[in-house]
Amino acid sequence: MKKIFVTKPYLPPKEELSYYYDKIYNSGVLTNDGPLAKELSAKLQKICEVQHFNYVTNGTIALQLALRVLGITSGEVITTPFTYVATISSILWEHCVPVFVDIEPDNFTIDAKKIEEAITEETKAIMPVHVFGYACDVDSISSIAKENNLYVIYDAAHTFGARYKGKALCSYGDISTLSFHATKLFHTIEGGACLTNDDALSFKLEWMRRFGHCGDNHMMLGLNAKQDEFNAAMGLANLAHIDFIIQSRKQAFNRYIDNLGNKYKRPKVQDDLEYNYAYFPILFDSESELEQAMNNFITHDIYPRRYFYPSCNELQYLKKKSKCKISEDISRRILCLPLWSGMSNSIIDMV
Ligand SMILES: Cc1ncc(COP(=O)(O)O)c(C=O)c1O
Repeated sequence: MKKIFVTKPYLPPKEELSYYYDKIYNSGVLTNDGPLAKELSAKLQKICEVQHFNYVTNGTIALQLALRVLGITSGEVITTPFTYVATISSILWEHCVPVFVDIEPDNFTIDAKKIEEAITEETKAIMPVHVFGYACDVDSISSIAKENNLYVIYDAAHTFGARYKGKALCSYGDISTLSFHATKLFHTIEGGACLTNDDALSFKLEWMRRFGHCGDNHMMLGLNAKQDEFNAAMGLANLAHIDFIIQSRKQAFNRYIDNLGNKYKRPKVQDDLEYNYAYFPILFDSESELEQAMNNFITHDIYPRRYFYPSCNELQYLKKKSKCKISEDISRRILCLPLWSGMSNSIIDMV
């Protein structure tokens, strides 16, 4: 029997990918914002309901660019400990200090009620994460940011296809970032984006992600975060199947719910959220119960993942340690079960 991993990247029919590869062979353009990257960006900009969509090489560089373009190269950034390490490493990589605010016990996103007490003279921005595709308290976060003159950068890596309060979940904040990594429900193998409704920010992002120069005019410090045509081809071929991808995940998700009933606590889907079925996390009563389950899974060649463990405030290379009791507790007890589009009922039932 084949190994069952936490996810299985969607692969479009080969001939549909070939259709785009033929275009690359005809144009001879491989990168530097070629026609396929432009076509994909235009389509994604509409789906994400933002004015500007800056397509980049991955979701980590998208976070780093977001900080850079806002001029945040020192000081403190308030964030959540319950996330993939890339949220935190991006803050550190840009020479800022992550300040952790504990999470809501119900949906595992940053607890907006605790943000204000973490604000200091050094605070520059809030970087919350719509973890697993569940929405942060965007209204409270927006008013705290306004009152305290702070930027909001949402790490929206898990949100593709999710809508909240009538608009795309990835459209909130000064900047939202996406990841199109192969593990994500919509992917371009590797890829990401910075989304914004601010013209001036988008102008800067556009140039920053391609070395900061236009011809011989060197306008600003930049780096190389351009996406190439082969990744864009994968994105275009996948995008044609996005409804199937989400619907099929929804079916698998609901079958897990039918099978498990109320046996495990799970994050709450907010009333105003159209969920994208990005992950299927379950909470065990204790870490030892989780470890026992992991061992059982492995003997059956099933490999769920401990998303997200450890709680990022416990990363050993952080200079300043802080406690986040809820996140630490949940991180020790949470496991994401395998979930992908096209997953058969027999595999779901076996898991
Ligand atoms: C919450 C979160 N932020 C950022 C990233 C980084 O994205 P990428 O892998 O595209 O660099 C990921 C995942 O990989 C993620 O899960």
